[in-house]
Amino acid sequence: MPKLTVVNRSGEESTIEVGDGLTVMEAIRDNGFDELLALCGGCCSCATCHVHVDPSFKDKLPEMSEDEDDLLDSSDHRDENSRLSCQIAFTADLDGMKVTIAEED
Ligand code: FES
Repeated sequence: MPKLTVVNRSGEESTIEVGDGLTVMEAIRDNGFDELLALCGGCCSCATCHVHVDPSFKDKLPEMSEDEDDLLDSSDHRDENSRLSCQIAFTADLDGMKVTIAEED
């Protein structure tokens, strides 16, 4: 299974295996990271699944929708590597990617 490395807010890294068909948000949530609230359950309306993505994977990510872009604008911690993790389907292409859970807004 493809692997995803997650960095929590204390800077601790953990590597998890991600099953088929999950989004990055679901993979993180299902592995017990309680810092990622994902309050809206993945329907792109809360921005509590904000992560910073390893820039070397930027080109492999799905394009950002206008809704995602607008929601990220509501975060004080947005940077050029910010994405909403519920909007990234984790495919084999993303094997080895690292994401950092964004600071709390
Ligand atoms: S879980 Fe709400 S926007 Fe991603």
